[in-house]
Amino acid sequence: MTKKLIVGNWKMNGSLATNAGLLQALLAGLNDDAIAVADVALCASSPYLAQLQTLLQGTALGWGAQDCSAHDSGAYTGEVAAAMLRDFACRYVILGHSERRQYHGENDDLVAQKAQRALAAGITPIVCVGETLADREAGRTEFVVKRQLSAVIHAVGHCASEIVVAYEPVWAIGTGRTATPEQAQAVHAVLRSQLKAASAHSSRNRILYGGSMNAANAAELLSQPDIDGGLIGGASLKADEFLSIIASCPLAAAVI
Ligand code: 13P
Repeated sequence: MTKKLIVGNWKMNGSLATNAGLLQALLAGLNDDAIAVADVALCASSPYLAQLQTLLQGTALGWGAQDCSAHDSGAYTGEVAAAMLRDFACRYVILGHSERRQYHGENDDLVAQKAQRALAAGITPIVCVGETLADREAGRTEFVVKRQLSAVIHAVGHCASEIVVAYEPVWAIGTGRTATPEQAQAVHAVLRSQLKAASAHSSRNRILYGGSMNAANAAELLSQPDIDGGLIGGASLKADEFLSIIASCPLAAAVI
């Protein structure tokens, strides 16, 4: 079993003042037990990456961004290049989140190009996949998540083992409606075999679950064999809740 990875996706929330308070509380609460069972990172809006770099450098907390451009540099007003994120020592970048697919028209090919850019800049992409409720009800869950992941695997080639995948059923995001551990595990197992088929080094891949994960349901989700961590939205904005999620990572995760 690999060490779990718990990532907070702050989405478009925060301010210099509230971020500082949240980070202080997290750093104060992150004890050795927590660090032993999980790698932890926070993904913030780009204007706050300098703040995270300043406050988190040398601590057990990593940080990252929520998107990057599919281009290296140039006339792309408003975009942020992966190399720029590297300047702020980002370890991760979330890509293809369903909110970007839904509100910004991102498709599988674009997400795949972004993953290439991130890897080229030395940043680990956290590639989000997930079905809508309509997809699930039509029995298309497996087809959709495999298609989304396959575009990225195809684009990144021999680097497939370097990506983190986040399974986020769209119907579970911000709704309070979590996938059951069995539902999540079933999809994670599908993604695991897809990653295994893509790379001889797939043991490096971590597959996170995201969608209304909280202190009450984390332990059961995180005990599933193919759930290697969580991508946490709302609950990552509350220090106590986020720390409880980290503390729910199974102890055995530290043994490898
Ligand atoms: P919630 O935890 O708020 O449901 O959000 C999940 C998510 O979208 C993380 O990327």
